Amino acid sequence: MKALLTVACCAGLILAFGCASDPAPSSPQPRLAPSQPNGLSELAGTMVAMDDQLARILKNMDETGFSWENQSLDVHSLLDRHPTDGSMVNRHFEDHAPLYRQAIAQFNASPSAEAFNRVVDACKSCHLGTCPGPLERIEKRRVASDASVRR
Ligand code: HEC
Repeated sequence: MKALLTVACCAGLILAFGCASDPAPSSPQPRLAPSQPNGLSELAGTMVAMDDQLARILKNMDETGFSWENQSLDVHSLLDRHPTDGSMVNRHFEDHAPLYRQAIAQFNASPSAEAFNRVVDACKSCHLGTCPGPLERIEKRRVASDASVRR
C-alpha cells in the first residue's frame, strides 16, 4: 500500500512538474533558476541539479574540441535531503545512494562515455525501486557508444 502511494505520488509529481517531458516550458519566467523551482522538495531540487549536470556534459559534446578528460561531475549528498514523501527514502534508496556516489567517483577518476553511462545506470537503478516516473528522462542522458574514446 505504501509502495503504491509512493508510485502514485511520484507519478503525480511528474504530471505536476513535467518531469517526464521537458522541464518547465517556462515562457513566462525564463530567468528562474532551474535548480530552485517552486514547490520542489530538497531531494527533488538536488535531483534536478544532478540531471542538469549530465545534460551539460551532453551539450558540451556538441562543441568542437570536446574531450572526456576535461569533464567532471559534482557529488551531491542524498541521504540528508528531505524528500517529498518520507517513504521514498526506503531501504532501496539507502542501498543505492552509495553506489551512485561510487559511479560519480569512478567517472571523475577516469572520465569516458562508458563511465558516464555507468552514472546513468546508477540513476536508473535507484529509480527502479524508489520513483520510476523519471526513468524515461534518465534514459535520454545515455550517450551513444560511438561517443566513447575507448572502443
Ligand atoms: C539513491 C536514489 C536515487 C538516485 C541515485 C537518483 N535518484 Fe532521482 N530521485 C530519487 C527519488 C527518491 C526522487 C523523488 C524525490 C522527491 O520527490 O523528493 C527522485 C527524483 C528525481 C527527478 C524528479 C525531480 C522533480 O522534478 O520532481 C528526476 C528528474 C531525477 N530524480 C533524476 C535523476 C538523475 C538524472 C539521477 C542520476 C544523475 C538520479 N535521479 C539519481 C532517487 C534517486
